[in-house]
Amino acid sequence: MKRIALLFLLPLAVAQAQNPLNIPTTVSGANINLTLQQGTTTFFPPTVTNTMGANGSLLGPTMILEKDSFVSIVVDNQLADTTTIHWHGMHVAAVDDGGPHSTIAPGSTWNPQFTVMDKAGTYWYHPHLHMHTDEHVSKGIAGMIIVRDDEEANLNLPMDYGVDEFPIVLQTKGFDGSGQILVHTNLDTTVMVNGTLDPTLDLPAQVVRLRVLNGSSQRLYELGFSDNRQFSLIGTDGGLLTAPVNLTRYRMAPGQRADILVDLSSSLGQNFQLMSYASSLPNGVYGAAQPGMGPGATGSLVGYTSNPLNGSDYQLLDITVVAQTSNPVLSIPASLASYTPLQEGTENITRNLTFTSAGTMGDLNGPFLINGSSFNMSVINYTIPLNNIEIWSLTNQTPISHPFHIHDVQFFILDINGTPPPPEMQGFNDVVLVPSGMGNVRFIAQFNDFADDSIPYMYHCHMLTHEDDGMMGQFIVSSTTSVETVSNSNDIQLFPNPANGIIQLTGLEINTIIRVYATSGALAKQVLATGSSFSLDLSGLNGLYILETETPSGNKNRYKVITQ
Ligand code: C2O
Ligand code: CU
Ligand code: CU
Repeated sequence: MKRIALLFLLPLAVAQAQNPLNIPTTVSGANINLTLQQGTTTFFPPTVTNTMGANGSLLGPTMILEKDSFVSIVVDNQLADTTTIHWHGMHVAAVDDGGPHSTIAPGSTWNPQFTVMDKAGTYWYHPHLHMHTDEHVSKGIAGMIIVRDDEEANLNLPMDYGVDEFPIVLQTKGFDGSGQILVHTNLDTTVMVNGTLDPTLDLPAQVVRLRVLNGSSQRLYELGFSDNRQFSLIGTDGGLLTAPVNLTRYRMAPGQRADILVDLSSSLGQNFQLMSYASSLPNGVYGAAQPGMGPGATGSLVGYTSNPLNGSDYQLLDITVVAQTSNPVLSIPASLASYTPLQEGTENITRNLTFTSAGTMGDLNGPFLINGSSFNMSVINYTIPLNNIEIWSLTNQTPISHPFHIHDVQFFILDINGTPPPPEMQGFNDVVLVPSGMGNVRFIAQFNDFADDSIPYMYHCHMLTHEDDGMMGQFIVSSTTSVETVSNSNDIQLFPNPANGIIQLTGLEINTIIRVYATSGALAKQVLATGSSFSLDLSGLNGLYILETETPSGNKNRYKVITQ
């Protein structure tokens, strides 16, 4: 007990000194190099903490990209660990997406190349190695991506990085007794912005832009200013809203971004703080006084109640307003981007995803399941026909809220617990918080432009502990299949996979049809399994195939199999 108490005192005791906010350098242009490296950071002098970063020892540079321009990124992995780098929120081909299948071994490079198709907005990059995302992110690898486009350029918004536009990467971390970063922890007692503890920032007396990223592993923030001044939300995950939304508080779940304007033109000389008013977070989210809520909420998160951030109000950034710059932006545009949200009724299919606890119902610690399954690298949970418009209906039967994220697309929220979203949630999003205790969210998205029959995209909870524990699934966008609904049965087992000539299937329903497709979509083999187990002869086939099972009642499951 005594050791635990000391561990909290360490960060809090040092919390007096103020440090100028670190502003990450920028990288841009057609050729970008990111070197992933190990290093050290002195958060609590003289203690030296081992950290990881891109092009430095903590975090990574801000990538500034132009819509419709081509970019080639060389990711050079100088870590001792295998990892991946994912472009969160960006619409890129699966092969360039950097999910858990696109591993980069130590000492090797990965070179995604793509044309930027995203609207002007705030995106980010982070590692995505299965079961190690939290480790690599918490130890320090993450960076912001700013996409600019012509529509934004015509709006007279603050766009001078580090002058009137600032990256604000919010993270909390936990440290052990020797000052090393904890992974999969609820003891994230240290708040940092852009890797800076107790940061201060001078902002000019004009309209300034804060691009806020919740890059925390688990924690939600209830943003607001200490003097309750109003701010204008102009953009969410995937770009600008149609018009600014004036707010005094804004809730951010892990993975989400908020593009915020603050008019400081009559605030010269003032000092105020960007805060998280976590005492106003509803119970049932990580960061509130109680992380669990709803029918059957029992148990507790290890270490949670002793973490002083939970359910209390705390400072994120100390702001002082200084002299105007030359050519200041002095007004906030009345209208922003123009777009037409996808409408309910245009969808080809609705998919239902239900979140449950793997163990005792009501257990807050997880692991958590999606439709009864934990993530399996070799199981494709859905095959989505290219250009499909889909409604995903997410139901949370667990007592903790989950920030659900999907790759490839930006979506529009249709409703939360049956109620249409408020204006600040009506834009482009790639993360949505699904409320605890039977909460439901429905969103609509279109899966266009990129099809790949072998490399999947991910969907998962963006609480990295939950993701690493298997609260994730994967889908293929296919131009060669017309299979609309694909689910995976937990009952069917395939082994060995990769296979050498023969693959065994067990747990089959009597008279299941087994089909094997090449990644081109061509049928390579079809057999009928009359018993509950079957030895499937794959000799003559080589490489990656999609194995499909179809029960007599038409239920299909698909699996990625590799044979050599
Ligand atoms: Cu930000 Cu799949 O992740
Ligand atoms: Cu993502
Ligand atoms: Cu979760």
